[in-house]
Amino acid sequence: MKTVTLSTLQAYKRAGETFSCLTAYDASFARAASDAGIEVLLVGDSLGMVLQGHDSTLPVTLDDICYHTRCAARGKGNSLLMVDLPFMSNTSQERLLQDAGELMRAGAEMIKVEGEAWMADGIRELTRRGVPVCAHLGLAPQTVHQLGGYKVQGRDAEQAERIAADARTLVEAGASVILLECVPASLGRAVREAVAAPVIGIGAGADVDGQILVMHDVLGVTHGRTPRFVKNFLAEADDIAGAFRRYHEDVKARRFPAAEHSF
Ligand code: KIV
Ligand code: NA
Repeated sequence: MKTVTLSTLQAYKRAGETFSCLTAYDASFARAASDAGIEVLLVGDSLGMVLQGHDSTLPVTLDDICYHTRCAARGKGNSLLMVDLPFMSNTSQERLLQDAGELMRAGAEMIKVEGEAWMADGIRELTRRGVPVCAHLGLAPQTVHQLGGYKVQGRDAEQAERIAADARTLVEAGASVILLECVPASLGRAVREAVAAPVIGIGAGADVDGQILVMHDVLGVTHGRTPRFVKNFLAEADDIAGAFRRYHEDVKARRFPAAEHSF
């Protein structure tokens, strides 16, 4: 695989080609995912749940994410390394810029931030300084206590229109990529059509530009209830490398996600 950059993702979008993304938290799994052709690796704050055993992403600190970013960066190969901004790193513009700077120094090549239209100013300041931003909309796990659980977002027309409008606002502010979590497939399609930036989906249906899953879900080692949009690719493969290849190939061929994984 040639080095994946933001331009690569933009070219995929223009060509109507899809790409795959997977979370990675250390060098060995990052290497395996990159070797499988997975274009984007995310050091997600989901590490609070799948690595640390918390029941939300809120306890994850900047230092935690920096540590895992340094680890994953050493194995990322030619994949693009995206990294989550942790909960409450956006309490002020200054803190946002400093914390994003720390993540970039640790090896991030793009920063993913949760937050709706009000994040526009922060996104503008980050992109001005050369930090590419992915704006995470729909189900934003850092707001779980406000949402009252991990629930599908944008089900009614008004909510759906607000999410699409937020995507437009944040792309205008400079966001290079939009990530949509847990929304109806029809809204995934609408957002993909509404913005020129690549749209990555998780539980957002097949009609977006790229797909992402949490690595533990792909390998079937998630405990507790698994959400509708995940698939255990290890169940159909001989080993972890095979599971990652299968996930990548199924995304590229638009075999995943199927209707059964969508809302
Ligand atoms: O933290 C994470 O893994 C994420 C993905 C689920 C998109 O934000
Ligand atoms: Na996250």
